[in-house]
Amino acid sequence: MSSYDVIVIGSGPGGYVCAIRCAQLGLKTAIVEGRETLGGTCLNVGCIPSKALLHASHMLHEAEHNFAAMGLKGKAPSVDWDAMKAYKDTVIGQNTGGVEFLMKKNKIDWLKGWGSIPAAGQVKVGDETHSAKHIIVASGSEPSTLPGIEVDEKIVVTSTGALELGKIPKSLVVIGAGVIGLELGSVYARLGSDVTVIEYLDAITPGMDTEVARSFQKLLTKQGIKFQLGAAVQSVTVKNKKATVSYQLRKDDSAHDLTADTVLVATGRKPYTDGLGLEALGVTLSDRGQIITDANYATNIAGIYAIGDAIAGPMLAHKAEDEGMAVAEGIAGQHPHVNYDVIPGVIYTHPEVGTVGKTEEQLKEEGRAYKVGKFSFMGNGRAKANFAGDGFVKLLADAQTDRILGAHIIGPMAGDLIHEVCVAMEFGAAAEDIARTCHAHPTYSEAVREAALACGDGAIHM
Ligand code: NAI
Repeated sequence: MSSYDVIVIGSGPGGYVCAIRCAQLGLKTAIVEGRETLGGTCLNVGCIPSKALLHASHMLHEAEHNFAAMGLKGKAPSVDWDAMKAYKDTVIGQNTGGVEFLMKKNKIDWLKGWGSIPAAGQVKVGDETHSAKHIIVASGSEPSTLPGIEVDEKIVVTSTGALELGKIPKSLVVIGAGVIGLELGSVYARLGSDVTVIEYLDAITPGMDTEVARSFQKLLTKQGIKFQLGAAVQSVTVKNKKATVSYQLRKDDSAHDLTADTVLVATGRKPYTDGLGLEALGVTLSDRGQIITDANYATNIAGIYAIGDAIAGPMLAHKAEDEGMAVAEGIAGQHPHVNYDVIPGVIYTHPEVGTVGKTEEQLKEEGRAYKVGKFSFMGNGRAKANFAGDGFVKLLADAQTDRILGAHIIGPMAGDLIHEVCVAMEFGAAAEDIARTCHAHPTYSEAVREAALACGDGAIHM
């Protein structure tokens, strides 16, 4: 039995970042992970592998659609699916290996196996029980499927199986027009699958600024993705290696079927806390299975904390990372703060979508007086040169003070561009602050500045 200051359970972005911060602050730290490799869902079966497939399939799309117009003639490349999956696996290996290196560098012990908490101050891994003054649960989340749907990860898959399909399906039905459904749906659409997305609500990407969501749907439709909105999926049945999705349209209750080679169930995720022994310990959970914590990420049981997807808030790797650092700093006696008003959200399709802060709908609901500055990438020289003129930047600022309240970008590199606005918001900046900052020409970031100018006397290139 070893004793530690901190044992972190789970090595996803929340857990491993937390462990590194603990070690940096002089705490003797161990991390528990039952997978063969570190990095959790994000590195092994989530963010990182999906980005590799998004990148490869985007390259194909560029070759098929834009190369000839740039004077790059010749046949577009063909897809070797096994080689593409091998590339994805190499990327996973580099990243998970990188986390293992960081654990060693920071002298963090990896306790291999699935952990449980038999009592406060104790973590059991395999046959060994270790002691820790502080236990941090960073156990993440798992796909939340629908009743009436049996996932076999071959024909009916979650995001995990969708990264490992035996072959590129001729037809794919995606259930749920959220982040996972649209990212993976666009991978397969670009690789040649006939993709239909079935969504319960009347719009895609619930919670997104409506103007951006509408434009996003139009652009995805242009790429060949079909949408059936306002449709509640009831069941999926598999017969002769095909899956039939039965759904009911909400407007008239009419029943419909759609048959495809593969069905991706992307209807959200739920906290993963199985086997930790939280209930026996008396740790309070919400009715959605989230661990309830206070502002310091402490549960109701002294010495047990929780962060990331296992607690409330958006299920995002970077939100978990920030909480991981904050809980470590709090344990070390510092006074950290996570600003939940400035957590960006990014969808890594092409074009990308990057958002932060309030949507226009939220501001209306709050009865707040605001102004909108918009700029289309069609007016951005760099975007035009790169066949990336689709989309726009939308900046929302307080009508009186000009303080930035939110930003919604659909367009090239939106996931990177959004961070200029995040930093500005952290500093309580006004739109004019961005507008008066010199931006290099020609860059996509000029579109952000132009949107800021549009909040004042007007954009220049529009
Ligand atoms: P989601 O919550 O984003 O979307 C699920 C969608 O499924 C919703 O639009 C919902 O209305 C729909 N739905 C639910 N039941 C349905 C039914 N019976 N019939 C039809 N539609 C139905 O969930 P998703 O995409 O599975 O992602 C899970 C989590 O992972 C999210 O919190 C997401 O933020 C996170 N994630 C983030 C990524 C990123 O930041 N780029 C990438 C992948 C996942």
